[in-house]
Amino acid sequence: MCGIVGYVGAKQAQSVVVEGLRRLEYRGYDSAGVALAHEGAVAWDKRAGKLANLEAALAESGLPESCTGIGHTRWATHGAPNDANAHPHLGEHRRLAVVHNGIIENFAQLRSELEDAGHVFLSETDTEIAAHLLELEVEAGHDLTVAMQNVCRRLEGAFTLVALDGQDPSRVVAARRNSPLVVGLGEGENFLGSDVAAFIEHTREALELGQDQVVTITAEGVEITGFDGTPAEGKQYHVDWDLTAAEKDGHDWFMRKEIFEQPRAVADSLLGRRDDAGLLKLDEMRLDDSELRDIDKIIIIAAGTSFYAGMVAKYAIEHWTRISVEVELASEFRYRDPILTHSTLVVAISQSGETADTLQAIRHARVQRSKVLAICNTNGSTIPRESDGVIYTHAGPEIGVASTKGYVTQLVAVYLLALYLAQVKGTLFGDEINTVMDQLDEMPEHIQTVLDQADQVYDFARSHVDTRSVLFLGRHAGYPVALEGALKLKELAYIHAEGFAAGELKHGPIALIDQGMPIFCIVPPRGRDQLHDKMLSGIQEVRARGAHTICLAEEDDETIAPYADALIRLPKVPVLLQPLVAVVPLQLFACELATAMGHDVDQPRNLAKSVTVE
Ligand code: F6R
Repeated sequence: MCGIVGYVGAKQAQSVVVEGLRRLEYRGYDSAGVALAHEGAVAWDKRAGKLANLEAALAESGLPESCTGIGHTRWATHGAPNDANAHPHLGEHRRLAVVHNGIIENFAQLRSELEDAGHVFLSETDTEIAAHLLELEVEAGHDLTVAMQNVCRRLEGAFTLVALDGQDPSRVVAARRNSPLVVGLGEGENFLGSDVAAFIEHTREALELGQDQVVTITAEGVEITGFDGTPAEGKQYHVDWDLTAAEKDGHDWFMRKEIFEQPRAVADSLLGRRDDAGLLKLDEMRLDDSELRDIDKIIIIAAGTSFYAGMVAKYAIEHWTRISVEVELASEFRYRDPILTHSTLVVAISQSGETADTLQAIRHARVQRSKVLAICNTNGSTIPRESDGVIYTHAGPEIGVASTKGYVTQLVAVYLLALYLAQVKGTLFGDEINTVMDQLDEMPEHIQTVLDQADQVYDFARSHVDTRSVLFLGRHAGYPVALEGALKLKELAYIHAEGFAAGELKHGPIALIDQGMPIFCIVPPRGRDQLHDKMLSGIQEVRARGAHTICLAEEDDETIAPYADALIRLPKVPVLLQPLVAVVPLQLFACELATAMGHDVDQPRNLAKSVTVE
C-alpha cells in the first residue's frame, strides 16, 4: 500500500527514483510524485493517476539534475486521488519534502495546532503535517536525522516516512513504525524502498530495519537509530532473486507470467524439505519439536487469498494430525477476544508479510503467550520477523496485485506444516508422509498439464465478456478454491462472483440462478467418500435451473460429461491436494476475461498489493 523510494549516490536521482516507482507501482497507483534536492531547495513534480502521467509530465519539463531524491506511488487513504493530495508533500517554506505510507492517527490534532500557529495546508492528507513538523525542526537547527527522531516521537499510528532537506543533499532520512521499509546497500550509493524491488536493478544487498527506527542514508553509508536517538543495527541479507524476476518476460501482465511460473514456484517451495533419512525438515521454522508436540489447537489467521489457503490448511491439518484448527479473518481475530493459551499455535499466512490486519493479529496472539508461526513469501518482512518461526514459500516476487503463485506456494507450505506436525506427533507413519511428499513432488508437472489447456480456458473467458454474474461451487478442499475463483473474478473483472459450498446452495443461493448463468463446478476426485457423487447431484440441480455449467473434473471422469456445458480436465490427484491444480483454470479465466474486458489486470481499480493499513 503506497510505494516509497529514496536515493543518494552518484547517479541521476530522478531516473533511479522513477524506475524504482515503476517496480513498486503494484503497491498503489492513485498518484505518483518525485522530489529532488537541488541547489539549496526542493524540486518536485506530482500527478494524479498512474505513474505514466508523472513520467509524461517529467518528459515535457524534467526536473533539474540531482543525486538525491525521493518518490512515491500512492494508494489513497486521506483525501481523494488528485494532484494536491499526491506525494511528496512540502513544508511551509518548501525547504523539505516528505513521502509517506500508512496513517498518522493523531494528524487532526497536530494539524489544528499547526494551523493555530499560522501554517497553511494545501492537501487533505495526514502526511502534510509531517512535512511541516520536520521543516520546523530543521529550521530550528537540527539535522534531518534528529528532526525525524523528534517528529516521530509525536506521531501515532502506522507510518513509513522518507524525507529530504533541500539544503542538505548529502542525506535522505526515513523512519518506520508498523509499515514496511528496507535499505538497499550499494557501492557509493544507497537506497530506500518499500520493498527490495525498488532497487533490485542496482543492488541485491539489503538491510532489514526494526520497529520504531530512523535510518539515514548517504552515498557512503547507512546509520540507524531508535526514535530516541539510540544507535541500532539493521540485519543485512542477500536477495535471492534478480531483475529478471521483476520483469514481465514477454507476457502482457505480471499476473499471467506468475500463473505460468507456478510449476517452478511449487518446485522451489518443495526444495530441500527432506533430509538424508527421508524425514521431513522445515529448517526456518525455529519451533522445537517438543513445543509442537504440546500444541492442542491451531488458529490460522490471514486475509483474502491467504485466508482461502488457510481454509485448505484446516482440511489437511485436521485430517493428518487430528489437531483442531480454526481459520479466522485477521481483521476480525483480535476484536472478538479469542481463546488463546500457550498450547495454541497461531499460524499467520501472508504473501507480503506486511498486511496490517494480520500483523496486529499476531501481536495480539503473542501478548496472550501463544506461539506464532508465519507462512510468508517475503524475506525480511515484518510478520515473519515478529513471529516465533517461519516457513518461507519461496515463490519469488509476486508483482501482479491478484495473488496466484503466492497462493499455490502457501498451499504447499500448509501441506508441509501439516505433514511435519503429523511426523512430530506420530499421527501418520513415515511411509504415509513420504507418499504425500512424493505426490507433492509431482505437482509441478500436474500444474503444467493444466496450464497446457490455457487456450481452451481463454476461449471460454472471451465468450463471457458480457457476463455480469458467475458462481463457483466446490466441496471439501474444493470449497475454498471456489471462493478463491470468485475473488479473482471480482478483483479483476469487477463483476458479481460468489463461491459456495455446493451443498449449501440449496439453502438459499440457488435462487440466484437464472437461464445461462455460468457456474464453475469443482468436482472432487472419485474416492471412497461420497463427495464426488454429491457434487454430481449439485451440478444436475443447477443445470436443471438453466445454469451453464463449466466443470473441472478428473481427466478420466466420464460421469460428469453429460452435465457439463464445458469441461476442463484436471490431473488425477488426491482430494486434499486438488486445490493446487483446480485453482489454475480459475486464475486463467479471470486473467483472460479481465483482459478481454479491457481492464488493467496488474493494477485493478481501488486495490493495491500489500494492505498495510487496518
Ligand atoms: C487477492 C489478494 C489479496 C491478498 C490479501 C492478503 O488476490 O492478493 O486478497 O491475498 O490482501 O495479503 P497477504 O497475503 O500479503 O497478507
